[in-house]
Amino acid sequence: MRVLVIHGPNLNALGSREPHIYGSLTLEQIDARIASEAQGLGMAVRCVQHSSEGAIVDEFHAAAGTYDGIVLNQAAYTHYGYALRAAVAAVGIPTVEVHLSNPQAREEFRARSVVAAVCRGTIAGFGVESYVLALRALAATHPR
Ligand code: DQA
Repeated sequence: MRVLVIHGPNLNALGSREPHIYGSLTLEQIDARIASEAQGLGMAVRCVQHSSEGAIVDEFHAAAGTYDGIVLNQAAYTHYGYALRAAVAAVGIPTVEVHLSNPQAREEFRARSVVAAVCRGTIAGFGVESYVLALRALAATHPR
């Protein structure tokens, strides 16, 4: 199984960015944890980070035919990224939305995800473990 992990804007600053909300792991450390879990699950994984919505949209279109699943933390685009939502729906690769924090427990504008409805499911609030759980969910539901 081939899985693409996409990190959205400002996640490149993890480690120093609001550690009381997002934890103290850097993106590199998170990617290392993802790689080790993927290896245990027998998955091939690639992790990328993009700051612009268009670059994430391009990743979705390029993923068609190459990846069996996508783990997506679209960061702030969660709340208003309509082009990204359309890309997830258009490409149709099973996608799990993940968040390090629990957006429902934060500011009101974070309570709505415009992307969630076109994803297989959402895992939020468990820090790096949100990504790990998303990989396990994709593995467990992948048709063999
Ligand atoms: C986030 C939650 C979003 O609301 C926020 O804009 C982020 C990170 C998370 O992982 O908790 O940048 O996606």
